[in-house]
Amino acid sequence: MTIAVPTAPQFELQPYKSLSNDELQQRIDKVRQQLGSRLLILGHHYQQDEVIALADLSGDSYQLSQMAAASADCRYIAFCGVHFMAETADILANRPDKLADRHGERVQVVLPDLAAGCSMADMAGIRQIESAWDQLAEVIDTEDITPVTYINSAASLKAFVGRHGGIVCTSSNAKAALEWAFARTSRVMFFPDQHLGRNTATGMGIPLEQMPVWDPYADELGGSTAEQIQASRVILWKGHCSVHQMFRPEHVALARKNHPGIKILVHPECPREVFELADESGSTGKIIKTVEAAPPGTKWSIGTELHLVNRLKQQHPEQEIHFLSPVVCMCATMYRIDLAHLAWSLENLAAGTPVNVIEVDEETAKWSLVALERMLEVK
Ligand code: 13P
Ligand code: SF4
Repeated sequence: MTIAVPTAPQFELQPYKSLSNDELQQRIDKVRQQLGSRLLILGHHYQQDEVIALADLSGDSYQLSQMAAASADCRYIAFCGVHFMAETADILANRPDKLADRHGERVQVVLPDLAAGCSMADMAGIRQIESAWDQLAEVIDTEDITPVTYINSAASLKAFVGRHGGIVCTSSNAKAALEWAFARTSRVMFFPDQHLGRNTATGMGIPLEQMPVWDPYADELGGSTAEQIQASRVILWKGHCSVHQMFRPEHVALARKNHPGIKILVHPECPREVFELADESGSTGKIIKTVEAAPPGTKWSIGTELHLVNRLKQQHPEQEIHFLSPVVCMCATMYRIDLAHLAWSLENLAAGTPVNVIEVDEETAKWSLVALERMLEVK
């Protein structure tokens, strides 16, 4: 559970919404100068261009976690991303050894808009996970299951995983995390993204028949029989990313037909039918590196969030970059972070009346950290 730190803000949000981007940018820069190295603005690759332009560091989920864990001078992190990322930054930046180095002083992590959540993370609640675990215990030995949670999950799920000998993974280390898990137990329970779990496990040679999908709304055993659960190697959670599930195999066929020689590059949150047709796949960080490394004239059709693909298009005019879907696939919650919210939260921070501070309670943070540290060790 995240503790909401109550403060009466010195500045209300509304007036910022009528300011131009130039004005907002100047005001944000002023706070950055005022706070200097005490402020770190982190931005996920799916953020809008004007937000990325103001970020001190940008990255994929794994890289952003590393940045939060490595932060030394900073006392404030403005997280331009979504809620689970800000929680993760709070846990890593305020872990016991870091707190001791700072004589107990916490890094305040601020999420400029609290409505920036993740619909996939919301598809697995801690009560549902606990209930699934209890039901599994009736048909298999849960000591022989390693729980693996995708980083796109609430801190309470990461804590569950930490308590049960499991690990957090991101899209960039999912295979290594599954290998880590299979070195310990013969089964894995993977939540909340069924696609990342399935795509990764299929790539490791695990057949689909050994990957039942656990539906938390089914009457019994997540909709599987006891025999199916007993025959399983990976129990997948019935969750998905609403952005990436919009990419379809027919989009791949259309791209190949319209642009002979084109390469399909997708995020592993895409459904298996799309993932298997792609030439390359990876985290947002890997997608960027893959395009950067390609020779001029390379043709790409990219299946991930629209803002990142559009930015790649602008940054690489020497290559031909297309968006994989004919319809707009953008992350509406990532998009909630704009310059108005960033300026508002930073000015309140500088005025000593921080808003939208994300602070994970001590017990949850302690166990989440166990699972997150494993994630940072496994690449
Ligand atoms: P990565 O940046 O780790 O690839 O994650 C993508 C994503 O969907 C974040 O929510
Ligand atoms: Fe969540 Fe998908 Fe948005 Fe990532 S892109 S934050 S997984 S809804």
